[in-house]
Amino acid sequence: MTAAAVPTITLNDGTEMPQIGLGTWKLRGDDAVRIVREAIELGYRHIDTASSYGNEEAIGQAIRDAIAAGDVTRDELFITTKAWQDEQGADRIPAAFQDSLHRLGLEYIDLYLVHWPDPTQGKYVESFEAVARLQGLGIVQAIGVANFYEEVLREVVEKTGTVPALNQVELHPGFSQAPLRTLHEELEIRTEAWSPLGRGIVLMNPVIDEVAREVGKSTAQVALRWAMQLGCSVIPKSGDSRRLAQNIEAASFTLTPAQMDAITELDHQQGFGRVFDDPRTFPA
Ligand SMILES: NC(=O)c1ccc[n+]([C@@H]2O[C@H](COP(=O)([O-])OP(=O)(O)OC[C@H]3O[C@@H](n4cnc5c(N)ncnc54)[C@H](OP(=O)(O)O)[C@@H]3O)[C@@H](O)[C@H]2O)c1
Repeated sequence: MTAAAVPTITLNDGTEMPQIGLGTWKLRGDDAVRIVREAIELGYRHIDTASSYGNEEAIGQAIRDAIAAGDVTRDELFITTKAWQDEQGADRIPAAFQDSLHRLGLEYIDLYLVHWPDPTQGKYVESFEAVARLQGLGIVQAIGVANFYEEVLREVVEKTGTVPALNQVELHPGFSQAPLRTLHEELEIRTEAWSPLGRGIVLMNPVIDEVAREVGKSTAQVALRWAMQLGCSVIPKSGDSRRLAQNIEAASFTLTPAQMDAITELDHQQGFGRVFDDPRTFPA
């Protein structure tokens, strides 16, 4: 797969973002440097990190090494990072952003997100507003949120007058986030799927297995392709060279409408739904 073969998604501010990115939660130190370098060699151009992952230095190191080696240029890459709960607030966001920029060793970030709304803290509106002010300074290309649900998304848009470019949310077979995706379409917000493989949980499902046999692909590739055909970007994490290569190949085939429907129907199967933290209560 070449970088050119991965489709891009246009954000509401005109920014082009590769539809497949590399998730990096749990990648640390030298492993993170090695995996990011390998991913870039394989054609990944979109990398997702966060201040809370403790790996911004390693990710930045890998990016600078790849640029120095002539593998890629900075403007070919799309780098996302996020402000954690303890970085929220109008007074804290500017310093948190500069800290991330410093740890990454970059001059700008492509996408900066408020990581969770954290409703008990009640600072998500002022935090997103502060992120929007950073955009005005030209040090961040696009701005968005993660784990925002309908009420907080509508409140943020109404009170700040700015529409986040993207909402990064849990989304995988069994949890297609249909109502939230409808709201995103109404507001012109792009949906990005975190844990698009359900951290492996969804890969054992017989329906996905059947589709994988039909198309001659792995269950992981089918899960990623399904989310892509729903219009989402996906950020699968792998620390394994073979699986990294496999995941980016999700750009190389198409599921039929019947195969898409069969997987989307898993939303109604018992035992599926949200698997990880609920943003209405996390981290309380
Ligand atoms: N905004 C948020 O609140 C939030 C929350 C969670 C995650 N995220 C982001 O989303 C990214 C992805 O989510 P995630 O890391 O939770 O889970 P994920 O990408 O759904 O799953 C990762 C797991 O699946 C395995 N895997 C990867 N490719 C595979 C393949 N082709 N076949 C079989 N197994 C495979 C990985 O193992 P190996 O590494 O051994 O391959 C790892 O155990 C994160 O890394 C992070 O960047 C954001």
